[in-house]
Amino acid sequence: MSIKNTLFIGKVLLQFEVINSTNLYAVELLSKSKPSDGTVISTYNQTQGRGQIGSKWESEPDKNIALSIILYPSFVLASAQFLLNQAISLGVFDFIANYMDKAVKVKWPNDIYVENEKIAGILIQNSLFQQKIQHCIVGIGININQSIFSSDAPNATSFTLQTQKKYHLDEAVAHLCQCIEQRYLQLKHQNLHQIKSDYLH
Ligand code: BTN
Repeated sequence: MSIKNTLFIGKVLLQFEVINSTNLYAVELLSKSKPSDGTVISTYNQTQGRGQIGSKWESEPDKNIALSIILYPSFVLASAQFLLNQAISLGVFDFIANYMDKAVKVKWPNDIYVENEKIAGILIQNSLFQQKIQHCIVGIGININQSIFSSDAPNATSFTLQTQKKYHLDEAVAHLCQCIEQRYLQLKHQNLHQIKSDYLH
């Protein structure tokens, strides 16, 4: 399977019916092979999703996006890795903002909120070698069609809760990959002013 309308993100798309964690799968894949740049590991049923600082990322089966992207941003120095966070966050922001009427914002470092409710989380795992980022696993969870959240996620929202519509997950994943690729290419082409100023707004 493959995403259309991108140059490299999702050209290799590993889609799983069910998986423990797409980030964990990416770690294992990288430990035994060299997956191509932009490989996407995606599922709509992630059973042990990982969040920031050891937390869990819960997602009702068949409702939401959970994916990881493998990137080799050799052009980003380890000391500038926050730029990568910013570019990825903006890609996710662009995707979400496209569908929302209310204000969407990136909450430092890389959570995406619609007003005061969290709609997406990002978990980036960089592997560093000699001041360079050797590889990067970008894990993204976005609440799409889920409308009931557990009390552990008291301020969660979703596309459906915000717009009262249902979304086609494959189409949403394709659009998300396009948005992330655009921002990643801005970073690659050193359009840093754009990234920094958009991140601050
Ligand atoms: C957060 O705590 O806000 C970050 C959540 C990141 C969740 C995504 S879902 C896809 C990928 N696989 C994981 O196990 N975690 C990330």
